[in-house]
Amino acid sequence: MRIRLENVSHLYAPSDESAGVQVLDDVSLEIPSGAFAVLIGASGSGKSTLLNLIGAVDRPTSGRVFHGDVETSALDEARLTRLRRESLGFIFQFFNLIPTLNVFENVAFPLSLAKRPRKEIADRVREALEEVSLGHRATHFPNELSGGEMQRAAIARAIIHRPPLLLADEPTGNLDSKNGAHVLELLQRVHAAHKPTIVMATHSAQAAACGTTVIEVADGRVRHGLRIEN
Ligand SMILES: Nc1ncnc2c1ncn2[C@@H]1O[C@H](COP(=O)(O)OP(=O)(O)O)[C@@H](O)[C@H]1O
Ligand SMILES: [Mg+2]
Repeated sequence: MRIRLENVSHLYAPSDESAGVQVLDDVSLEIPSGAFAVLIGASGSGKSTLLNLIGAVDRPTSGRVFHGDVETSALDEARLTRLRRESLGFIFQFFNLIPTLNVFENVAFPLSLAKRPRKEIADRVREALEEVSLGHRATHFPNELSGGEMQRAAIARAIIHRPPLLLADEPTGNLDSKNGAHVLELLQRVHAAHKPTIVMATHSAQAAACGTTVIEVADGRVRHGLRIEN
């Protein structure tokens, strides 16, 4: 899925406690279909904001966001809910697994929401768990897993419905280097196997090296296209 931002600005409105923050200032950018784009930039530079706008979790204050030819910034809530459910996978720094569901149920969640038949869900969860080497942990609960295992379960959940767009916000930020490396390897494998467009925000140079394109966020602007050969 090709992603396009046209003259996007984003401002967090001022409140009683805080001044307004202009995070993005007239940003235009395009991420080609099938790219593995990496967002880098200092803490607070706006990487998560940009991911949330790309993922239609938030709407820009001004400007337009497109998934392919669909302008997501113009869709109503019902259409957005469907789009997030069908074409998006999200991976977070703190995994965001549901603590009361076991690994199988967590990974099944997007397909359960989509009301897929039980047999299909079981088959696809098993396949996704194999893909992240967690087949043996299906009946375990999140609090019984290591950080690396939790993130692998979260990746299985994010890819179970084969979304054309996979977003990851500091996916290795809460892992030691060995588990971080494993998660990156897994994302690269998913990218090679299914060719989703991946957009990953990261602090880590090791993670940034996984991408096919680097987008640097600084002072409300982006610098695009420091291309990495690999
Ligand atoms: N919901 C919010 N309300 C107000 N300000 C916010 C909100 N979310 C983020 N910010 C501010 O926007 C800026 C960019 O944040 P963020 O996108 O989280 O950056 P990064 O992910 O690069 O660390 C920061 O100054 C942050 O404090
Ligand atoms: Mg962030």
